[in-house]
Amino acid sequence: MSEDIELKGLDFTLTGLNSNVSNPARVIAVVNQKGGVGKTTSTINLGAALGAEGKRVLLVDFDPQGALSVGLGIHIADNRPTLFQLIMAEQDIDFDDVVIKNVSTNLDLLPCDINLAKAEMLLVSEVGREQRLAAVLAPHLGKYDFVLIDCQPSLGLLTVNALAAANGVIIPVECEYFALRGVKLLVDSIKIVQGRVNPKLQIDGVLATMYDPRTYHQKEVLARIKDAFKGQLFKTPITRTIKFPDAQVQGRPLIEIEPKHSGATQYQSVARELLARLA
Ligand SMILES: Nc1ncnc2c1ncn2[C@@H]1O[C@H](COP(=O)(O)OP(=O)(O)OP(=O)(O)O)[C@@H](O)[C@H]1O
Ligand SMILES: [Mg+2]
Repeated sequence: MSEDIELKGLDFTLTGLNSNVSNPARVIAVVNQKGGVGKTTSTINLGAALGAEGKRVLLVDFDPQGALSVGLGIHIADNRPTLFQLIMAEQDIDFDDVVIKNVSTNLDLLPCDINLAKAEMLLVSEVGREQRLAAVLAPHLGKYDFVLIDCQPSLGLLTVNALAAANGVIIPVECEYFALRGVKLLVDSIKIVQGRVNPKLQIDGVLATMYDPRTYHQKEVLARIKDAFKGQLFKTPITRTIKFPDAQVQGRPLIEIEPKHSGATQYQSVARELLARLA
């Protein structure tokens, strides 16, 4: 492997992770500006795994593609209010008009659709534009143990809103040769938000996704990811399996369809490791 790891020397210490996970919710942005690395799949399945652990979880679909909503079987009808109206602070629409309760065990969902793409443009000139999602979530954090925000693959205003609203970040990283390209940009963006908007923001973990343990090459890639992120990499990588796209088509978390499948138990291990890190 010839590509240099860009992350050496970056400080990813977990010091200060002592928040009470019960009250209020720990808000975690699932973020990576690279597309197709498993952000949505991880939000659904980690959320469901936390739900199975008895935690009350709110999933926030913050990608205008709406893949999180669809992946949970929710197809937004025209004129149904979504997160877009909440972000734009439209009068007469509140959280309870938008939230969909119990999409799975202990899981609620704030859905969105393509309209959310307009928010980025409409908010550009607004005061406090980075804090809109934080303001939407703040009154409701006492109802949940975790809020997981599925971000779009960009570092634009919506993602900045997610980082501003979050206590922690989980970065899914696909196990492939160029996995670490662009991660420095992401970490720099997190540091900018830390510095300007949200000093308490932390990295809660890095999750290796789409791992194929059968090849030496993949083992080498995983070793490089581990080397780059040290203790921040969750011990359990998520293996590549067709069961995840299949489950997404069915609109349900894999743990609900096949709780004993390795993909489901891996997300459960990650959920337990996350709980242990935050305890
Ligand atoms: N462990 C896995 N094994 C096999 N396929 C997977 C796995 N995780 C995710 N996928 C599939 O890979 C595709 C991309 O995953 P996903 O949508 O979760 O990524 P994403 O980072 O949210 O993408 P985007 O950046 O477009 O929002 C989906 O079709 C998903 O079903
Ligand atoms: Mg996605």
